[in-house]
Amino acid sequence: MAEKKPVKITETVLRDAHQSLIATRMTTEQMLPIVEKMDKVGYHSVECWGGATFDASLRFLKEDPWERLRKLRDGFKNTKLQMLFRGQNILGYRHYADDVVEYFVQKSVANGMDIIRIFDCLNDLRNLECVVKAVKVVKHENPNAHAQIALSYTLGDAYTLEYWKDIAKRIEDMGADSICFKDMAGLLLPYKATELIGALKDTVNIPIQLHTHYTSGVASMTYLKAVEAGVDVIDTAMSPFALGTSQPATEVMVETFKGTPYDTGLDQKLLAEIADYFRPMKEEALKTGLLNPKVLGVNIKTLLYQVPGGMLSNMVSQLSEMHAEDKYQEVLEEIPRVRKDLGEPPLVTPSSQIVGTQAVMNVIGGERYKIATKETKAVLSGEYGQTVKPFNPEVQKKVIGDKEPITCRPADLIEPELPKIEAEMAEWKEQDEDILTYALFPQVAVEFFKYRKAQRDKVDMNEADVENKAYPV
Ligand code: CO
Repeated sequence: MAEKKPVKITETVLRDAHQSLIATRMTTEQMLPIVEKMDKVGYHSVECWGGATFDASLRFLKEDPWERLRKLRDGFKNTKLQMLFRGQNILGYRHYADDVVEYFVQKSVANGMDIIRIFDCLNDLRNLECVVKAVKVVKHENPNAHAQIALSYTLGDAYTLEYWKDIAKRIEDMGADSICFKDMAGLLLPYKATELIGALKDTVNIPIQLHTHYTSGVASMTYLKAVEAGVDVIDTAMSPFALGTSQPATEVMVETFKGTPYDTGLDQKLLAEIADYFRPMKEEALKTGLLNPKVLGVNIKTLLYQVPGGMLSNMVSQLSEMHAEDKYQEVLEEIPRVRKDLGEPPLVTPSSQIVGTQAVMNVIGGERYKIATKETKAVLSGEYGQTVKPFNPEVQKKVIGDKEPITCRPADLIEPELPKIEAEMAEWKEQDEDILTYALFPQVAVEFFKYRKAQRDKVDMNEADVENKAYPV
């Protein structure tokens, strides 16, 4: 038998899986009873934190996301915790100054985070540098602190095997601890995975992880080929929250590799008990409509048009708002052209929305770039960073005129902002972490702080005017 090379598993049920299927609504209370069992599995890591989990905790669940992290840390005594971090945007929607980014990394690790998976919508490594450095600084506090750079996987002329090999090498040189290929739309086909992972294993020595979604129906085959090609870690979700727009099922992948050199060694009996715990939660979500059976199927359009499923559904709703459903095909053909004009970025949040909306504008407006969105202007001004291909100079001129585009790392132009943010929210601060919560989601954070204060002051919530967000003390 060939040399043993057990494939490792990152479990996503506490983050991506419920984000992809039930709008990130799993509560800490629902998670905690199963943590002890999950901790015995021997997962490489458990993904449990990210932009949407943080936002939804505050906004909808009225939970402090930091509290969730601390509770999970208490429960997971042997398993590494993992989070998703949007480069210089942290978990929010704008570029932050380096001092905020560094403080967020420091606090995440201090509260129990181990593996920080960092990505940027343009794969501009300059937007990831600050996080990688910040993780290195906190390694003396937590030797498990790990900076993983995730590349947004995409298709297009610019994305050759050479491009991926070159950028992977640069990531290794930057000092990242591992690389992840993050395929949000399920575009990576099984035999392409053989090629891609094989080429990367020849190029870099740091571990390679693969993250994909079942959306297009090929994901578990892609994992099979990637594992055969030497990928070190794959991301899967416990079966009740697997498939559809989520990940392949953990138990299925574990069984697939049983008795092979890639055997994960995970215990199916234990996994079955964990699945039993999550199954009623899924049934309940189906009953209430929180889980729409539609997202559990195969969206073949993703493969046919090579654009993420979410982007297509956004486009359909934009067109129907404008009573222009008949323009669907035209917009679909405009998308790759706009993408080329904008330097052929990967189509992930937020670049997917920027390209999609601009394509709609170009078709509806009757003239290309007669109307340019604020975001298109920002991209063409260099404010998101560098794209893999240059911008179309004519389009750039038409959209931003004579304005001088920036070419430096965008965050270099942002002054330190932590003291100002702290001063702004001082009246709400009960813990240092609150500063960061406020920095990321100012309005949502204040609503949450008010709610928390009211709870603390033992307000009778029956009397609180939730509708107007007034909590009498
Ligand atoms: Co994902």
